[in-house]
Amino acid sequence: MSGVWPRWPRLVAGNWKMHKTAAEAAGLARELVELLRARPACEVALCPPFPALEAVHGELRDTTVHLGGQNMHWEPQGAFTGEVSGGMLRAVGCRFVIVGHSERRHGLGEDDVMVARKCRAALRDDLTPIVCVGETLEERDGDRMAEVLVRQTQAAFDGFDSVTASTVVVAYEPVWAIGTGRVATPEQAREAHRVIRATLDRVVGAGVGNRVAILYGGSVNADNAAALFAEEELDGALVGGASLQAATFWKIAAAAAHPAAV
Ligand code: PGA
Repeated sequence: MSGVWPRWPRLVAGNWKMHKTAAEAAGLARELVELLRARPACEVALCPPFPALEAVHGELRDTTVHLGGQNMHWEPQGAFTGEVSGGMLRAVGCRFVIVGHSERRHGLGEDDVMVARKCRAALRDDLTPIVCVGETLEERDGDRMAEVLVRQTQAAFDGFDSVTASTVVVAYEPVWAIGTGRVATPEQAREAHRVIRATLDRVVGAGVGNRVAILYGGSVNADNAAALFAEEELDGALVGGASLQAATFWKIAAAAAHPAAV
């Protein structure tokens, strides 16, 4: 088991999406490792594209920075062209895997059932899943934010006991905030995180919601990170665009290290 992931210290994960060749990714990882020597008091993970995992892993050896994949299939192996398994990610040094990112849910047709399978398979394969949940703008405007978060959270955690639930990390990523420059306010993030925690209490057991780490993702950058992290509900961040520059990502990690209230 990859074990319980605590809420503190915070986790700042860089989702590099479909950016960087292996050589470019290794260069960015090298720059980051250098900056992170003045180690912020938070956990850091980098999630490069599959072909760059090995090269980035080489740069992260002997550091405390974690490696993560951006997706995986739920089967351990087989005839699934274009897919990779959790075991393969683990073998290349991954600790984390992002599952159910909205770019896969909405762009590639991943549904709650597939996300739930991936979450379970990640745990089976000794990876810590970062399960993404979040509403679209249409759903928010239609007052359906809570309904969507409850449905997605429930599907991902259904049947888990409280210990298993604490080995999963959740990322609240409102779809309208991803890559748009339109960040959620700390109050909006807090409200959503509380909906997720209340759902965990109901689906898994009382008190579980308070033990599960919930990251915020969606247009986090060096300028808004401090205000977001002043909100104690945020146990970290999943950072897309702003993770592609070492200095910017480092500033976000430094902001995450400030204890808001813990
Ligand atoms: P963004 O992406 O920071 O570029 O908005 C976040 C994400 O998709 O994880």
